[in-house]
Amino acid sequence: MSAFLGGKGCQGSAEQGTAGSWEGKGKGKGKGKGREGKGREGKGREGKGREGKGREGKGREGKGREGRDSGNTQAVRGKGRGQYCVGVACVVGVPIGGGLMAYVTVAPPPARGPPSRHRRRGPRPRGGRRLAAGPGGAGPAALIAARGGRGAAMERVVLVTGASGGVGLALCQRLLEEDGRIHLCIACRNEQKSEATRDLILATHPAAQVSTVEVDLGNLASVLRAARELRCRFQRLDFVYLNAGIMPNPHVNFKALWHGLLTGKLLHMLTTAEGVMTQTDRLNGDGLQEVFATNLFGHFMLVRQLQSLLCGNEKPSRLIWTSSSNARESAFSLSDYQHAKGQESYSSSKYATDLTSVVLNRKFNGQGLYSSVVCPGLVMSNMTYRILPVFLWKLLMPIMWLIRFFAKTYTLTPYNGAEAHVWLFKQKPEYLDSLVKYHSCTSGLGRCYVEPRKMDVDEDTAEKLYQKLLELEEQTLEKYHDLLD
Ligand SMILES: NC(=O)c1ccc[n+]([C@@H]2O[C@H](COP(=O)([O-])OP(=O)(O)OC[C@H]3O[C@@H](n4cnc5c(N)ncnc54)[C@H](OP(=O)(O)O)[C@@H]3O)[C@@H](O)[C@H]2O)c1
Repeated sequence: MSAFLGGKGCQGSAEQGTAGSWEGKGKGKGKGKGREGKGREGKGREGKGREGKGREGKGREGKGREGRDSGNTQAVRGKGRGQYCVGVACVVGVPIGGGLMAYVTVAPPPARGPPSRHRRRGPRPRGGRRLAAGPGGAGPAALIAARGGRGAAMERVVLVTGASGGVGLALCQRLLEEDGRIHLCIACRNEQKSEATRDLILATHPAAQVSTVEVDLGNLASVLRAARELRCRFQRLDFVYLNAGIMPNPHVNFKALWHGLLTGKLLHMLTTAEGVMTQTDRLNGDGLQEVFATNLFGHFMLVRQLQSLLCGNEKPSRLIWTSSSNARESAFSLSDYQHAKGQESYSSSKYATDLTSVVLNRKFNGQGLYSSVVCPGLVMSNMTYRILPVFLWKLLMPIMWLIRFFAKTYTLTPYNGAEAHVWLFKQKPEYLDSLVKYHSCTSGLGRCYVEPRKMDVDEDTAEKLYQKLLELEEQTLEKYHDLLD
């Protein structure tokens, strides 16, 4: 469990140093090691005084909630505009790899305009090529902010997995609409996808601060490498959207649908896919069931490895898992938690996600880390296009719009599907119920809103699953000990 402490190599004795003492104290100058500067983060983590005051724009959050009870559900329409911060101008050193520093000016951005222009000396930071170079060239400023250095601008750092398309991409765009000053770190499977995604985001938000990190969540070595990279790059993460997911080889059971029509269960089946969808899973390179590994365990490992960036920060950090209304207890079994035997690996993995989130809250709320689960509803994305051919979905679209009058979780577009994710971005986590799943909904007339629904989770089962995940984590860390700091 040594990696549980996280950030050893990158943070190590850093907090004993002073801000700006990073240069020259790096343990090594070779590749990789040069990034490990003693005292590199200095007193930044504490960010004494400067971060605390005036961070939240008065009244901007106020309109977030409107309740409407219906059974165990409550409609919530988010009108809040999120939190905004006020920065303090200063010149600070940015570690740029290889033991070098760049000095940048971090000034409070104008009220509505793009982030302020900064000055940079020396080579670009590692990975800097991928940072936004819009007006204000936000890359280093974002890193400074992310490190929470003294006097740094207070941008929130948001990591999104599965950002290359569908809900993840729409989420990135929507988060930037909410707060153009966040530092967005997009996690995609490979460099090509990262670049393409970053370009897409910058096309609509040219001043955005966007960096990338490569991670294949179905490959634990890749997860460990990505976590190490993130620990080196950032000092804290404010939001981690654990959104990437797969549903391989989906099959629709049309006979079950017909039966549902005859028994009056069709609407329920159409909104939860219960009894309608099956998948064929397989083992991945780590010897784990691929769906479990990608949808849950890869993310779980990532979170655990990033614990040092997520816990004990001045403000709470947030995990937001993209689950599904297809998560069902009946598809999940503790004795087969990877779902090697059944044909509903997707449903099982999402149920296991719900359980995991519940336990994470129990274990980490005290350390300022909060976890929530959302369902984006039925969204037309690459995932759904694997269930039925695109042309068939297009033909079915008028029917789906009609169904939406009865099935509000037919959000249909990635933009609508990201409603709950964005709503959570604007909420104070202390007021959220960890046993609730937040569903993105769209009314028949196209209005987006969020509906919290109590989850069908047994906390005892959740704890037992968590212990199993810890055991698996321990085996993984033993196997990949060379990738640990
Ligand atoms: N669409 C729906 O109706 C629906 C309903 C309920 C829940 N969800 C959930 O919503 C989330 C987003 O799905 P979506 O509808 O937006 O589908 P999507 O368009 O297929 O997006 C899935 C994302 O996950 C990424 N991904 C898949 N495997 C990965 C891996 N091994 N490592 C890293 N990234 C990986 C994909 O990257 P690549 O581009 O590299 O493949 C893609 O960015 C998923 O968790 C899904 O289960 C979707």
